[in-house]
Amino acid sequence: MNIIVVKDYDAMSKEAFKIMKAVVTDKKDAVLGLATGSTPIGLYKEMIADCKAGGASYKDVRAFNLDEYVGLDYSSDQSYVYFMRANLFDHIDIKLENTNIENGKAADAEAECARYNALLAANTIDLQILGIGSNGHIAFNEPGTPFASVTHVVDLTENTIKDNSRLFKSIDEVPRKAFTMGLSNIMAAKKIVIMANGANKAKAVYGLVRGEVTEDVPASILQNHADCTLICDEAAASLL
Ligand code: F6R
Repeated sequence: MNIIVVKDYDAMSKEAFKIMKAVVTDKKDAVLGLATGSTPIGLYKEMIADCKAGGASYKDVRAFNLDEYVGLDYSSDQSYVYFMRANLFDHIDIKLENTNIENGKAADAEAECARYNALLAANTIDLQILGIGSNGHIAFNEPGTPFASVTHVVDLTENTIKDNSRLFKSIDEVPRKAFTMGLSNIMAAKKIVIMANGANKAKAVYGLVRGEVTEDVPASILQNHADCTLICDEAAASLL
């Protein structure tokens, strides 16, 4: 794993953007794997500023998001589809029809997982952007998720519900289930960038980089990826 330790969140976002810009400049119709949460917002701001200034274009880029809450869709500002439009898609020249995310309101969850897995099988991700949960999850693959998993519905752990409740009016409003790409979908990406910032991620970052490769720490599977770069700030790197 390549490891880049930088001073702070801003520097982390700028480092990640360098890799993003190289990928979409080199391949105009690149396939991106994208994440939500606090971690990638700075990267998305860099992409927006650059695109608005006439830099990289996303006109022919396709995007696949990692996960979505079960029960939420664009009509909820807590949904991940809403997040992606508000924080990225509505501000760059990507075509909305080229963006993909699990449908949180799908009537048949199994069919929705099958639909998403078929799409992922037909589209190899050139660059996958990831954050990491304080319990070592990637996407919503919680500790104990099989490494061979594909897109599935998960019961979120109490830890994740608590972490994510900061974005909701109350903890009771946080959905208890989510669709998520599986670990084998993520590992199929050609290149992966995982970002982490803040002291509350230090333990998870240690598990990601130095810990045993075990399903108890889902992110540890990335030690087996041929082209994975961790970009983190000093606080998140403090246990390395
Ligand atoms: C988001 C996702 C999650 C987050 C992780 C970190 O699509 O899949 O795995 O990357 O929970 O969240 P933040 O960035 O909010 O600390």
